[in-house]
Amino acid sequence: MKSKYKFIMAATITGLNLVCPQVDAQGLKDVYKDFKFGNILNSTTVNNSNMKALVLTEFNSITPENELKPDATMVQSGSTNENIKVQLNAGAKAILQFCQDNNIALRGHCLVWHSQTPSWFFRENLTTTGAIVDSATMNRRMESYIKNIFSLITSSYPNLNLYAYDVVNEAFANDGGGLRPAGTASGQSPWTLIYGNDDFIVNAFTYARRYAPLGCKLFYNDYNEYISAKTNDMYNLAMKLKAANLIDGIGMQSHLDMGYPDANLYGQAVAKFASTGLEIQVTEIDITTSTGDFVAQGLKYRDIMTKILAYKNNVSAFVVWGIQDNQSWRSYGKPVLFDSNGNKKPAYNELYNLGSSTGTPEIQSTNSPRAWITGNQLNITGVSQGKPWFVYSATGILVSRGIAESAKSTITLNIPSGIYFFRAENHSLKIVN
Ligand code: G3I
Repeated sequence: MKSKYKFIMAATITGLNLVCPQVDAQGLKDVYKDFKFGNILNSTTVNNSNMKALVLTEFNSITPENELKPDATMVQSGSTNENIKVQLNAGAKAILQFCQDNNIALRGHCLVWHSQTPSWFFRENLTTTGAIVDSATMNRRMESYIKNIFSLITSSYPNLNLYAYDVVNEAFANDGGGLRPAGTASGQSPWTLIYGNDDFIVNAFTYARRYAPLGCKLFYNDYNEYISAKTNDMYNLAMKLKAANLIDGIGMQSHLDMGYPDANLYGQAVAKFASTGLEIQVTEIDITTSTGDFVAQGLKYRDIMTKILAYKNNVSAFVVWGIQDNQSWRSYGKPVLFDSNGNKKPAYNELYNLGSSTGTPEIQSTNSPRAWITGNQLNITGVSQGKPWFVYSATGILVSRGIAESAKSTITLNIPSGIYFFRAENHSLKIVN
């Protein structure tokens, strides 16, 4: 956090001389120092110079949106039960090269999934018309695939920071309560069909542990992770894999909507996952809105991030699933941080400002006229009329917020003694009682 508050600058707002720390950060990756702040690239966006420039400014983790999935990397021709051939397509190569060249960490996504996996992979003679194979055959194919894909990536990009990989994706039923239903139809799982239990998950992590390069953390990743039955499925699985030292973290996809879930339900899942002692990564966050109220959307992003910051010692990445709204898989709900023209939305500003307000700044300012403590009261004044102000606890929890009725009015809050962060009009201030 030390570089965040490099200078003290005298600022004049509404006629008062204020002492405010100036934030010299460039992007989201710079204001969130406790974990990586990421996004996705795909075969189109990786060739767009505006997107690449934006990624370089804002993000230090990239997940290929589709380019490392089984249907993009498995090669039918020449494959055998013992040797599943693999490839990196042009999009994957461009993304991995960009990350290696620019020292951007890469999240691999994903190895074992019911979706976007070729039908022939599960069938006799590796043909789409063959019968479904038995679990012993599937084990050999799965081990070979995992071994070969790690080998191809690490040999082709020896300096790539492959720091995390989704080993198993979405193995549980939509709303939890057990494994995804067995079958080959849409939404069903050939993995459940072949194994009948969670052995394929344990085996996938066993092989991944065997072949993943040093430093590559192994994740179980799923959506609807905040629905309690699913939270429990994921928790129980994680504890079982942890006991065998096979897993490093839990991926919360976090495909949210303004209507559901609320931040408190989400926070309960974060707390439960943190209690495993494993890493948590927010792997695919987006928040759809049906009303286009982007101010409210920004507040929801902030409330979700606040839940994450409460467990920031457990969290190792926060990844948004899409750079601009029009590039999102849920573009109808305009769910991400930049609009279709590349402009920052309120969601971006909320996250940036929250990130700027948390952590431990090098400079402590206790005598600002804008916010000061008397006894157990926090007093605020000098915020321009109509402008919002925020007070956060030292752990980033929002304590209070409001809108200044007039620049001269003093707002007084009752608070316990402690360390607080005050934010208004792009100024952040640490207040120590
Ligand atoms: O590549 C073909 C192209 O050749 C064809 O012309 C075009 C016509 O539809 O389709 C293209 O494939 C699409 C692919 O994205 C690449 O753009 C697929 O139809 C489309 O279904 C696929 O969607 C992806 C989706 O996963 C599939 O499950 C989304 O981009 C991707 O964002 C989404 O990501 C998943 C995560 O992996 C796991 N969690 C959920 C998340 C959202 O579904």
